[in-house]
Amino acid sequence: MNTPTSEAIVASLSAIVGSQTCLGTEAEIKPFVTDYRGLYVGQAAAVVLPSSTEQVSQVMAWCHENGVAVVPQGGNTSLMGGAVPGADGAAIVLNLRRMNQVLAVDPINDTMTLQAGVTLNAARTAAEDAARLFPLRIGSEGSCQIGGNIATNAGGTAVLRYGNMRDLVLGVEAVLPDGRIYSGLRGLRKDNTGYDLKQLFVGSEGTLGIVTAAVLKLMPLPRTSSVALAAVPDPAAAVALLGEAKKAAGQMVTAFELISGPALELVLEYLGNVRPPLEGRHDWMVLIELTSGGSSESLDQSLMQALESGMESGLVLDAALAQSVADAQSFWRIREEISDAQTRTGGSIKCDVSVPLSCIAGFIEEASAAVRALEPQARMIVYGHMGDGNVHFNPLRPKDRTAKEFLGACYDKVSHAVDSLAHAAGGSISAEHGIGVAKRDDLTQYKSAVELELMWQVKKALDPKNLLNPGKVLPAPGAASTPGNE
Ligand code: MLT
Ligand code: ZN
Repeated sequence: MNTPTSEAIVASLSAIVGSQTCLGTEAEIKPFVTDYRGLYVGQAAAVVLPSSTEQVSQVMAWCHENGVAVVPQGGNTSLMGGAVPGADGAAIVLNLRRMNQVLAVDPINDTMTLQAGVTLNAARTAAEDAARLFPLRIGSEGSCQIGGNIATNAGGTAVLRYGNMRDLVLGVEAVLPDGRIYSGLRGLRKDNTGYDLKQLFVGSEGTLGIVTAAVLKLMPLPRTSSVALAAVPDPAAAVALLGEAKKAAGQMVTAFELISGPALELVLEYLGNVRPPLEGRHDWMVLIELTSGGSSESLDQSLMQALESGMESGLVLDAALAQSVADAQSFWRIREEISDAQTRTGGSIKCDVSVPLSCIAGFIEEASAAVRALEPQARMIVYGHMGDGNVHFNPLRPKDRTAKEFLGACYDKVSHAVDSLAHAAGGSISAEHGIGVAKRDDLTQYKSAVELELMWQVKKALDPKNLLNPGKVLPAPGAASTPGNE
């Protein structure tokens, strides 16, 4: 089959979505083919912005018929190059931002139904307007979209209490690669009628279908929160302190985030005029948040109890309890800006790993030693969702080396060392950021032949022509142990 020219693609897809929302010039396309960190730059034959599931279905049917690949895109905040096309310019980008309607909020069923292009921020606001919480919380919430959150099984800072996106989705509507619509917009907490098909789309990174709408769980809106930053001697003490916090506050422990000394220094340097909450320099800190529907006094008491018992047993060296909402926000700001501080500094090797909580302290020690052996001056930007066993282990270039020098000399060796140690500890090489293109070929080392074979079988069952987000997640044809090439 001859693949249609770009002009033919634009003409045919304009007839479906309208000429104003089918973009074909280089200037129009450019913002959609570059990821937000500017690390992945691709090309596209066109960018389409459909306004309904029906239009997505028609676009997919046309592309399937004509052998045109499609890259689905939400807020384009992927850290793994998952939402931008490759360099050959053969694919189109299908961006969902015009599908941004909150379709229904049902406070009795504690659910809301949204189109995929609603931003996470808007989803949280819609829930709050109904006195409910939609608990997913990630730094990019102003731009990332619900469809992308589902496609990447987003995590973030409240997973410890509420789970990740997979746990928060009750129903999904998705358009399949041939244009058929999977209509699973059910708001049921119990539905044992065979395979749970909606979960196939969660975390599939747009390789199996395009999520167009979803039914999400809502939670009671907490009335109060209590936030503290505590300095601990080492990661093992942080794990033990988490145990104390759970003992004192049980389910109310909502976030438990690790921050290394160099991560705090970097973010303070980046933010400029923010006062550090603790006196002096510490190698390790944790940000703890409790939330509840009860009184703020009793919540503060629970947190103080955990901190005091930590101090008595030497797990806590110093601690600051937020005295106001503004304090709590400024503690959180420090944590949330670490990612941007790294992006702005440049030269950071992002490893997003998870290991069982029981192994996390040992893992951090071994991984730090491995990185120091490769580059003794690397700044150890280590932080993240310790309560979930998820560490962002991101060695950063020494101050006197350029990003190019550091990444050129160390990127492969550091990633390999860190990922291998996480794998050896029974962990994952991508806890919450996904695979995209960045980690795709690494899967051949860390997934068994059976796992890869099953992934390919599922892909081929839903997308036999390999037209949906090709080249993402599944190791490229030709990679050593890719099933299907054997
Ligand atoms: C975070 O938790 O801040 C992000 O997942 C990490 C990142 O952006 O690298
Ligand atoms: Zn994170």
